[in-house]
Order: sequence, then structure tokens, then C-alpha cells
Amino acid sequence: MDLHGKSVVVTGGNSGIGAAIVRSLAAAGAAVVIDYVSQPEDAADLVKDIVAAGGRAIGVEADVTTTAGIDKLIGTAVDEFGQLDAFVNNAGMELRHSLLEVDEETFAKVMAVNLTSAVFGTQRAAKRFIQQGTGGVVVNVSSVHEDWPMPGNLSYCVSKGGMRMLTRTAGVELGPQGVRVGSVAPGAVDTPINAATMKDDALRQKLENSIPLRTVAEPSEIGDVVAFVVSDAAKYMTATTVFVDGGIMHGSVGL
Ligand code: BGC
Repeated sequence: MDLHGKSVVVTGGNSGIGAAIVRSLAAAGAAVVIDYVSQPEDAADLVKDIVAAGGRAIGVEADVTTTAGIDKLIGTAVDEFGQLDAFVNNAGMELRHSLLEVDEETFAKVMAVNLTSAVFGTQRAAKRFIQQGTGGVVVNVSSVHEDWPMPGNLSYCVSKGGMRMLTRTAGVELGPQGVRVGSVAPGAVDTPINAATMKDDALRQKLENSIPLRTVAEPSEIGDVVAFVVSDAAKYMTATTVFVDGGIMHGSVGL
């Protein structure tokens, strides 16, 4: 996989799956804009590692629930690296609650971070690709729960279901203009979003027993697939989802 000469934005790029995506992209030669909203030191550490290995990366504080934040990221990619070739909508949050429990404010927050950010990230990136005349790629980091109901995880499932149709609708709309849109849908991954499960041995065991490959994923196992979707190796892929879940969707229940 060769991403030399490509300039890529990763939202929520300083932690969890986002940080692994940044590392995979940079290892393949891409220059990366690392978006963050908190823990700037994590973005700075990533930049330091990438630069020490001879790569290019920059951390940018931006709130991707606003178009101003998204435009700031794209502007930085263009100013620092000359253009924009790919945009990864990775920023996300998960607050567990059922339909009967959820209130309007909580639902709106999850939708803003997980879905509205991705809608306008896709829109702003696509406008830039079209203006450049280069084509480009958007990757949406979704979840098995884009298609797999999980009781007690209502807002998250609704947001990921929305992302599923964002990828398909935007992919169909933008294909004729040389813009690809793909989703990568992880299952259970060892990241801060799953810290409560990972810390509890019994819960972790129960989760791993429900996964055909019998282990949660390392973040790098998702990052590498995102880098593949960004690359020309996936140049015929659009408007669809790659599931990277150890088979969990076909195992038992979401945990
Ligand atoms: C969620 C995890 C969950 C996994 C499998 C992921 O999208 O973030 O909390 O364990 O799906 O159900």
C-alpha cells in the first residue's frame, strides 16, 4: 500500500481507532492532519513519532460538530500539504442507554458527534475534491451496529445506521465526480470507548467468547483496513462497508 504524496485528515485522530488510523496512514507514506478536541499531548506524541520516522503530520484542535471546525482541518491540509486527497470521519462517542431512557439532549449530542460531523465532513471534503479536480476518498468509521441492533445502545446504533446510508447515498451521488465514499465497520476494539468492558475480566471474557475469532481487535487492525480503503488498491470500492469484526455480527449478541 503506497500513500506517498497523499494528504489525509483524520477526525478524532488523537485517540483509540483514530490514532491507529493516523499511524497506519503515515506508515504508508501519507501526510496526516490529526484532529483533536481534548488531550493535545496525545496528538503531539503522534506527530513526534511520525516525524521521527521521516513522515509528515500536524495536530489541529477543531470541533467537527461545526462546519467551521471541519473547514479548519481541510484548510490546514491544503496549506501544509498542498491539497486534500482523503478525509476520514472517525470522531465518535458511545453513551449506553435504551430508547425508554434517552433524553433529547443526550440523543442530539451523540448524533452531532457521530453523524452530523460525518455528513458535513463528507460534504466539505467532496467540495474540495471537486474544486481541485483530483477526485478523492471519504472513509466513514462506522460500526457493526450500523446494521446490527444493540438493545441499550440506542443513540449509537441510530447514528451508525445513519452513517451506513450516508456512505451509500454520498457514494452514489459523488461517484461520477471521481469521489469514493466507503465505510469501515469495526466490531469490538480495545480502545478507550470500550474501557469499562476491557477492565472487567468477566465482561471481557463474555465478549470474547461471542466473537468467532475469540479476541477483541487491536486498533491497528482497523487502522490498516482504513489505509487500504484510502489507497488505490481499493479504487473500485465505493458506497459500501467493509466489516472488520472478527465475525462478531454472526456470533451472538452485541456487548
Ligand atoms: C461498540 C462496542 C461494542 C462492539 C460490539 C462497537 O461499535 O463501540 O462498544 O462492544 O461494537 O458490539
